[in-house]
Amino acid sequence: MKQFDFIVLGSGIAGLSFALQVAPHGRVAIITKKNRAESNTNYAQGGIAAVTSKEDTTEMHVRDTLEAGAGLCREDVVRTIVQEGPARIAELIELGMQFSEREIPRSDGARELDLGKEGGHSKRRILHAKDVTGREIEKALLNAVARQPQIEVFENHFAIDLITTQKLGRPGPNRCVGVYVLDKPAGVVETFASDAILLATGGCGKVYLYTTNPDIATGDGVAMAYRAGAAVANMEFIQFHPTCLYHPRAKSFLISEAVRGEGGILKTINGNEFMAGHHPLQSLAPRDIVARAIDSEMKRSGATHVLLDITHKPADFLRERFPNIYETCLRHGIDMTLEPIPVVPAAHYQCGGVLTNVDGETGIPGLYAVGEVACTGLHGANRLASNSLLEALVCAHRAGRRVLERIAPEARPVIPDWQSGRATNPDELVVIAHNWDEIRRLMWDYVGIVRTHKRLLRAQTRIANLRGEIQEFYWDFTVSSDLLELRNIALVAELIITSALARPESRGLNYNLDHPFPDPAWAQRDTILERG
Ligand code: FAD
Ligand code: SIN
Repeated sequence: MKQFDFIVLGSGIAGLSFALQVAPHGRVAIITKKNRAESNTNYAQGGIAAVTSKEDTTEMHVRDTLEAGAGLCREDVVRTIVQEGPARIAELIELGMQFSEREIPRSDGARELDLGKEGGHSKRRILHAKDVTGREIEKALLNAVARQPQIEVFENHFAIDLITTQKLGRPGPNRCVGVYVLDKPAGVVETFASDAILLATGGCGKVYLYTTNPDIATGDGVAMAYRAGAAVANMEFIQFHPTCLYHPRAKSFLISEAVRGEGGILKTINGNEFMAGHHPLQSLAPRDIVARAIDSEMKRSGATHVLLDITHKPADFLRERFPNIYETCLRHGIDMTLEPIPVVPAAHYQCGGVLTNVDGETGIPGLYAVGEVACTGLHGANRLASNSLLEALVCAHRAGRRVLERIAPEARPVIPDWQSGRATNPDELVVIAHNWDEIRRLMWDYVGIVRTHKRLLRAQTRIANLRGEIQEFYWDFTVSSDLLELRNIALVAELIITSALARPESRGLNYNLDHPFPDPAWAQRDTILERG
């Protein structure tokens, strides 16, 4: 058994920020299922929303967040996160993060932070590093982690399940005491013990067939927390990003909303602008509205995609501002300076998650959750663009502070070794692959941008059958990361469906044709699921 003062599951912005904060006070294990940089954070493009300009105010950022959140945000949480953002950004810059700057006009070469704009923001307030903000943040944080001798990073280690005193059959109030982890190269399951465990495992885009997320995003944290008895909230609110590159050979490549922020216009494949009929902000309307408008346009015309046109901007500007998007499109034969980019919506962000307060505390003592895995109440029914990196940064700091204030329990329970099935049967691998595909397609077709009660019920029945089958595998066979991820996406899919069925209204990202309007009785009501 490996004992640590702090265990962090995940090495994106949330996990790394927390680890850096607590490291001066004890030994930290960061457990991450692939290489340390592989995370949603690493692919973030647009940037971090924060009030740093004289033309902007906290109040305006709060208002935009509440507006996007469609009546379901927790205003106190929004205010805290928006207020504390600028201080956390300053610390990130001190750690080595370099945001893009621009020359201040008429100032003899003095420079200031360059601020981008995205959907739903009334001001320019997105700090960015060209269009590779996440890669630069991840690099800065990992460099800082490498300078910390108290932190040990366990790459290719897959967290399987949390260990609680309740699961161990101990009397007294439940608390989290450890986690079982598959060391993938060695093929053995190890026990990691601590009385402070942070879930920072990110989101669940891979539950859907089309997603902007990398392969790590399989909802493992939500699944583990739910199995451990923590409450999970608002899982029906899955955000679909309106503009993922549409190309047969492009896997999950996002075309940042910042492209629309710089003037990109959505058009049909015949070149007609169509957003005016949907929202006064047109192509820069909040994401739920843009994604639904594209979905409806594609269904109406039968087209496989729509177009994003920014060819009216100077080519030099586009190459300088969006080097990654420009190069990637070019590799696929599309020159964005000369022709519009084909785009489609794709699953992007999980607004719900493990229910926490703004300090990352879950209902289980010893278990904390921060970042995309958590539901603090910041995003409500629809996240405002570039608020997630902000939330992760602020809440990781607050969780770190909270963990250091806690009084650690004196008794450490004995934790038994992992027991696993012994069977291996390569023939069954095909069943695992088939079930993966089936769940992701089912979720895309039946639990996507536009939902109906009947389709949700069908999806629920199918997922229940699949979960039964997967559970048999789980008990009988030696665990592999594919099987573990399949088990998790199946559970998370079920949580999304159950939550969507539980909300008899359309609000933000949960759009249901059987209840097409918001119901005032459901404003400020979270959908909370707990293991019965
Ligand atoms: P992640 O960064 O996803 O990190 C999760 C970590 O947990 C990874 O290291 C993963 O390997 C590990 N992990 C997961 N499961 C396990 C397990 N079972 N065992 C061990 N390790 C595990 N947000 C913005 O605010 N601005 C943007 O511009 C922006 N652009 C985006 C662009 C793209 C393409 C995508 C996909 C997302 C974007 N987002 C953006 C959203 C944002 O990037 C994420 O919400 C945020 O980075 C999540 O950070 P995190 O630390 O919570 O999780
Ligand atoms: C983007 O660059 O469009 C992504 C921003 C976000 O998801 O917040």
